[in-house]
Amino acid sequence: MFELISYERFRDTPKVRFFDITIPASNARDLVYHEGPAISPHNTADDFWQFYLHPNQEDNLLALSGGRTFYLVNFQWEKSFHIVRLEAGKEILRIPPGTFHRSISDADGSVVLNQAVRAVETTIQKEFRVYNSKEIPKLYEVTSSKASPPKVHNLTPRWGHAA
Ligand SMILES: [Fe+2]
Repeated sequence: MFELISYERFRDTPKVRFFDITIPASNARDLVYHEGPAISPHNTADDFWQFYLHPNQEDNLLALSGGRTFYLVNFQWEKSFHIVRLEAGKEILRIPPGTFHRSISDADGSVVLNQAVRAVETTIQKEFRVYNSKEIPKLYEVTSSKASPPKVHNLTPRWGHAA
């Protein structure tokens, strides 16, 4: 299953807070800017959803600014389709390898830091393939409007609120 990981505030000064966001096993970092309501990966020209899936990489996603909504599908989970809302300062979203995922930013965009855990033998090309739901019947079936609705997860604010 995916996880929502909490992290610690370790120092408070007037108007400044420090957080330890370390993912100890992380060996790769990527930073993704969405300008405006971007969809990643983008839909096909005929408007089918597309997904990333990393065979050998775990994602650990922290929104640094803005908000982004993640669509997650994994056929090994009891409920295969989840929607998880990520906003700046909330938990880190851990997505295990083998999970189809796509995300949509809020109207004002978002910045997300990924502290990935990548198997050493893999390549970026292998990990960033895009999968078209039109071409994968099971994926299309579970995400279509006729399927049972996804489980939606909203997170609790962290930054900006005293503990
Ligand atoms: Fe990813």
